[in-house]
Amino acid sequence: MQEEFYNIAKALIYALEIKDPYTSGHSYRVYKVAKELGLMFNLSTEDQFNLEGGALLHDIGKIGIKDDVLFKPSSLTLEEFTIMKTHVILGANIISQIPSLKRCLEPVLFHHERVDGKGYPHGAAADEIPFIAKITTIADAYDAMTTNRVYMPARSPEEGLEEILRHSGTQFEPAIVEAFTDWWQRKYREKDPIISADYQYGKIKEEVILDLSRFH
Ligand SMILES: [Fe+2]
Repeated sequence: MQEEFYNIAKALIYALEIKDPYTSGHSYRVYKVAKELGLMFNLSTEDQFNLEGGALLHDIGKIGIKDDVLFKPSSLTLEEFTIMKTHVILGANIISQIPSLKRCLEPVLFHHERVDGKGYPHGAAADEIPFIAKITTIADAYDAMTTNRVYMPARSPEEGLEEILRHSGTQFEPAIVEAFTDWWQRKYREKDPIISADYQYGKIKEEVILDLSRFH
C-alpha cells in the first residue's frame, strides 16, 4: 500500500509540475510545513501519514483548471474565481479513484474551509473540518502569502506570521495558530529558509522526493 502510495503520489506531483511549476513548488513547501506542524501534535501514525500525503496533493485538482484562469496575471473575476474554486472537488475526485491515496482526502477536500464556516466548497465550520485539514490550511495560506504570485508580490515572513495571527479563530484554528507561531519563531532563530520566499524550488523538490521514499 505504501509503495503504491509513493509511486502514484510521485507521478501525480510530476504531472502537476508539468502543468504548473509554481503550484508544484508550493505543494512541496506546504508538505514540509504541514509535516513539521503535525509532528508538534503527536498525531497517530495514520493521521500523520494522511496529513503529509494530503498536504502534498492538496492542490492536485489545479491540473484541471484552464490556463487562462490558473495563470491570469491579475485578480480573478467572480466567474473565474468560481472556476478556480472547483480545484478542491476536482482534486478530491482524482484522489478518490486510487485506494491508497483516498486516505489523504481530508486535506485535499477541506483545505479552503474556515473555522468560521465562510470557506469553500461546503462552508464546513469548527469541528466539521478535520484537524489535519486545518493544519494544511495554515501551511497553505502562509506559503501562498510569502511567495511571489502572478497577481501579488511576496510578503515578508514577519508579515506572513502577522496575517496568520490576525485570522486566528476566523479563518484558522487557534490551537494550530499557536503551534505555527512556535514553529515560525524556532525557524526564525535557526535562520531556516523554509519561512522565507527564497526557499529554493529545486532543492526542496529533491528533499521531498527523498523524504517520500520513507513510504516506499
Ligand atoms: Fe488550494
